[in-house]
Formats: sequence, structure tokens, C-alpha cells
Amino acid sequence: MAPDPKLNEQQAGPTLAPIVFAIGVAVILAGLVVNLEVIAPAGVAITVLAAVAWIRGSGKRSPAQTKSLEPATNEGERFPRSRLLERATLGLGGLVAAGVALPAIGAAVLPAFSHTKARAIDLGPIGAFPEGEFVIATFLSDPQAGEISRRAAFVRNNGFVGKSPSFTIMSSRCTHVGCPTQPNGPIFVQKEEFRRTNVGEIKVVPTLPAGGFGCPCHGSQFDTEGNRTAGPAPRALDRYQFSIRNGRLILGPIYSVSRVDGAAGTARIHSFKRLGDGEPASGPESLLYPLDPIS
Ligand code: FES
Repeated sequence: MAPDPKLNEQQAGPTLAPIVFAIGVAVILAGLVVNLEVIAPAGVAITVLAAVAWIRGSGKRSPAQTKSLEPATNEGERFPRSRLLERATLGLGGLVAAGVALPAIGAAVLPAFSHTKARAIDLGPIGAFPEGEFVIATFLSDPQAGEISRRAAFVRNNGFVGKSPSFTIMSSRCTHVGCPTQPNGPIFVQKEEFRRTNVGEIKVVPTLPAGGFGCPCHGSQFDTEGNRTAGPAPRALDRYQFSIRNGRLILGPIYSVSRVDGAAGTARIHSFKRLGDGEPASGPESLLYPLDPIS
């Protein structure tokens, strides 16, 4: 007599693996939105473990169980339909899981290998920066990328603090949505000069931003330390780290600033890792940005 398939499925016993697998996929999807570094990889781990358990569970069925799961088959059918469906389901599930998991794994893991060190940008000899005055330095941050990588920084030589030269170097990029801010004061184009450095030609133009810096797009205003004084920008102007090598001013990585207390070489800078356009650096609003798109 042919076995009753329903009865036999109950005998084979339920397995949690498919449910855990589905939970793993859900965790991956949540991780893609919320946290690529921890939650998404955890979801991948859960999914992979569940998939392995699922496959092994199905593979370890006793011959009696396997046989009992098969509905009555025609005499002479060498590959029962139930097994075909089971394997097709597993195969499709695996493909879907791979399609979901691989991009997450790539996004979580590849940056660790593809990280390239920020190029140090030589702005020229420190003696070429007059003390207490601002210049606008324009340079290619990535000469291979060309003009698209052109950046501008407001550079002020603060003189020496103790025995160390001090510079204030602010990005001209508005922290609202990235328009180029301009000095609120004259720009002495007749005094502009070009310097050849490791990133090609750098243009340096003296300026006198007595009124700070302003953004032409939506009206944000910043004082001469980069503090936001008006408009929709959520924080102060970003700044560049710098170092002095062989008497030359070298730009380092860029970082974000919530505000600056004091001025020039003795200012207290409230610094943060580089944030995206429109992201507040501090306060409750900063909690609304759990993912940093540019880190
Ligand atoms: S981009 Fe500067 S105020 Fe909007």
C-alpha cells in the first residue's frame, strides 16, 4: 500500500532552519538600512548557518524518512517529484540568499581592502603664507581624477603657538548641501599666484574675509573661524588636518567641526570624524543619522 504523504511529513518532524533562514535574510535587509558594519554581517552569518543546517538536515534524513516523504510514485520513476521540488526549492533559496547576502558582504568587507590613504597635498612653503591673513588655496585633491577633484580651502597662518607653526585650514564646501562658500570681503585676484607641488599647480589668492564666509546657495553664513552664524548649515565649516614637512605646509585628512571656541592658534575646536552634507555634528539631531554615507 502506498504511504500517506501527510502522515509521513509529520513523522519527519519540523525543522527550524527555514524559519531561521528567513529571519537571517530579514536581518540582512535591516542591516543594509541601519548598520552595515555589525547588523548586516550578523544577518549574513545567521543566513549562512541556517542554510547549512537546512541543507544538512535534508541530507541527513534517514532512508526510511526520505522514502516515507515520497508520495506514491509511478513504478519506474527514477527521480521522484518530491525530491526534485525539494532540491529546486533549496537551489532557488540559495540563489535568493546569495543575491541578498553577497552585496551586503561586499559592502561590509570590501572597504577594508579598498581603503586608500588620503593623499597628502603640498601647499608650498609655510613662509609663503603671510601671518594673520587668509588665502584661498585651490588644488586637485586627486590629480588622476582631474578637475572633478578640485577643492578650495581657506588657509590662515596663525603664526607660532609655542614652538609649533599654527594654521587654520577650512574647507570652502558649505556644510548644508555642499555649495562653495565665498569670503565676505575682497579677493585680491591681482595678487594670485600659482605654485607647483606634488598635486600639480596650486592657485593661491589672498583675501580679506572681514565678514566671514557666505554661501550663495541658501544663505548660510560662517565667521572667520568657520562657526555657523546664520542659515540652514547644520555645523561649522569642515577643516583639514595639516603637518609641516621640510618647512612646507602639507594638508592631511578632512574632519568635521561642530563649533570653535576662541580664535586662531589657541582656538578650541570641537572636532568629529568627517560627516556628510547636512549632517549635524552634535545634539539630538545628530542621532537621526545612524549611517554615515561617506565614512
Ligand atoms: S549649500 Fe550652503 S546654504 Fe545651502
